[in-house]
Amino acid sequence: MGGEMTLSPQQEEQLVRAAREVRRNAYAPYSHFQVGAAVMGEDGRIYTGCNVENAVYGATLCAERVAVGQAVAAGQRRLVAAAVVADSRTPTTPCGTCRQVLSEFGGDMVVIVDNGQRRWRFTLGQLLPEAFSKEQLSGK
Ligand code: THU
Repeated sequence: MGGEMTLSPQQEEQLVRAAREVRRNAYAPYSHFQVGAAVMGEDGRIYTGCNVENAVYGATLCAERVAVGQAVAAGQRRLVAAAVVADSRTPTTPCGTCRQVLSEFGGDMVVIVDNGQRRWRFTLGQLLPEAFSKEQLSGK
């Protein structure tokens, strides 16, 4: 795993703003909990996603995984940062499954969570210590 990357204040602002904007498209008629996420590739490009709920509740897609899918579909597999925006009492942190999915494409990424009042910064390693990764899939 490489060294951690530091986001400039401008990049951080850009990423959080992108997450806040895409949150407006969240499809959350069941939970009424709208989430926006944005991930940044190593080239500085930003990919966004919102949560997409379903009448079969378990088929719901989290905002973070939609954003990762957008990045990968565009050919970007090296992510350096993610931002999550929701209107929760304390900033919304990614769920366990999303932490795992984020780690596939940047185990050392910075994760910023913001609820409009407070902003917390983590590394993914703090949120998902000792993550399972492809290195452990030895012997195929
Ligand atoms: N959700 C996300 O999209 N990301 C998170 O980090 C937390 C949860 C969504 C899933 C569901 O649509 C709603 O929020 C309530 O769990």
